[in-house]
Amino acid sequence: MSQIIAPQTDKPNMPPYEEVYRNFDWKEVEKNFSWHETGKVNMAYEAIDRHTETWRKNKVALYYSDAKRNEKYTFQDLKDLSNQFANVLRKIGVQKGERVFLFMPRSPEIYVSLLGTIKVGAIAGPLFEAFMEQAVRDRLENSDASALVTTPELLPRVPYKELPALKHIILVGDGEIPNDDGDTKFYIYQKEMNEASREAEIEWVDREDGLILHYTSGSTGKPKGVLHVHNAMIQHYQTAKWVLDLKEDDIFWCTADPGWVTGTSYGVFGPWLNGASNLIRGGRFSPDDWYATIEKHRVTVWLSAPTAFRRLMAAGDEKIKEYDLSSLRHILSVGEPLNAEVVHWGRRVYGLSIHDHWWMTETGGMLIANYPSMPIKPGSMGRAFPGIEVAILDNEGNEVPRGQMGSLCIKAGWPSMMRKIWKNEKKYNEYFQFPGWYISGDLATMDEEGYVWFQGRDDDVIMTSGERVGPFEVESKLVEHPAVAEAAVIGKPDPVRGEIIKAFVSLREGLEKSEELAEELKIFVRKGLAAHAAPREVEIRDSLPKTRSGKIMRRVLKAWELGLPTGDLSTMEE
Ligand code: WTA
Repeated sequence: MSQIIAPQTDKPNMPPYEEVYRNFDWKEVEKNFSWHETGKVNMAYEAIDRHTETWRKNKVALYYSDAKRNEKYTFQDLKDLSNQFANVLRKIGVQKGERVFLFMPRSPEIYVSLLGTIKVGAIAGPLFEAFMEQAVRDRLENSDASALVTTPELLPRVPYKELPALKHIILVGDGEIPNDDGDTKFYIYQKEMNEASREAEIEWVDREDGLILHYTSGSTGKPKGVLHVHNAMIQHYQTAKWVLDLKEDDIFWCTADPGWVTGTSYGVFGPWLNGASNLIRGGRFSPDDWYATIEKHRVTVWLSAPTAFRRLMAAGDEKIKEYDLSSLRHILSVGEPLNAEVVHWGRRVYGLSIHDHWWMTETGGMLIANYPSMPIKPGSMGRAFPGIEVAILDNEGNEVPRGQMGSLCIKAGWPSMMRKIWKNEKKYNEYFQFPGWYISGDLATMDEEGYVWFQGRDDDVIMTSGERVGPFEVESKLVEHPAVAEAAVIGKPDPVRGEIIKAFVSLREGLEKSEELAEELKIFVRKGLAAHAAPREVEIRDSLPKTRSGKIMRRVLKAWELGLPTGDLSTMEE
């Protein structure tokens, strides 16, 4: 099917694949943590505090830099700071199990708040800083968040007066406490932190207690709150060890924002559970900034997304020669299909293979990967992680022959599997329609050697620049615009972004289509929902194709757009 590239890392943490796959047992992984005997656990303790009882106490856990700040925090520093934040939450009355949301640009304070939230046994809800009012409202409303950590700049996007459950808002950075007669109480982060003790009792929770709530998109309905529990650490720990191949001297850079699952499972938990040093870089993507970051911090292991690699590829090979990237020893990619071409380019310009791997918000951790100890096949996402059973199933739930396309499914029950869709059991059950199996919604093939090849989504979920966008959210926003009668949104293939968002709309009676209106609609979504969710193309049509029951047929629009056969149109109205 394609060429095979031999492993190139010296002494990877992971033993030879076949050997370890045969003998693997998650129960053995648990034994790395003392809690496997008591059952009482806390992720923040295992990721941070535990290391302060060893020589790692003064090891740098977090290098943080952006245009203005350049800071270092040891494991001891993070222990102290997160204790202080835990005390702040306790003082204001946040209890175990409550949802504490974090909505701010990348900064050390997000990591401190996240850890402190976990220390009191509350459930953390990180929000991507680009979210606008509608996106923020949907998530805070659905989760009944009781506390929010945000900045004065982002506060205008938080409709707190209309969120009765939201009792506390902690503001990070300079700003005045809003003069307000509402029920929400405001606090200044730095002031509260200064007054808080560095000693705090950890709330020891059950391994099945809630840890983090990540909202993600499906093809229908509002974003879903995917709940993960402390038990997930077993998977975070082992996958970070073997797939990221983290070692004591590594400087690991995960470019994902903590508002997305990659930015927490592998930007926080996985590396710190292994006692590794994390680099967090704030600000936006730019090839120069990124290469300078690798050079300056001597990054050794680098995890990013195909979109970023494609954009770096587009920036030209000459640029790479301007920087010293010799510290790099291992590169990884996740989130959307990594073209074989990019893997070959990576080998040429960085001298390293980019290791693709696969997982989802719902899976909590990596499930399929190319390992440093295993030959990789460019274009393939790799093979099942030890302890994970992957199958390609047909519509009845039967395994298809090797090489045939089907639904990518995982034997249910791995340690980091989601435990709930927040307040939506029906949605949760939709993932498990074949008894014993989790249905990913991705289509894939598996070859004779168990390498899995991504073929597409089985639903209308859009992957744009590595970010998962549900068409329904965008459509809902569009129809709020006074000119729009109906809207349908699809992903349209794009060489750099993977997909771009294209919207089709029909207008209300008597309105004329125009370029200006199309532009206005893009801005409307950008300002109301989020920049990454805004359509790059808007096509105004007289009407949209619908089923007889009135459901807009996105698949027909997509087929028309791509010049593909439309398939069965028997349910389409005249
Ligand atoms: C897609 C991100 C191709 C897939 C961790 C999945 C991928 C969705 C890959 C989950 C990959 C993830 N190749 N597609 N290596 N990795 N995907 O929840 O469609 O943001 O279902 O989690 O990303 O996106 P999510």
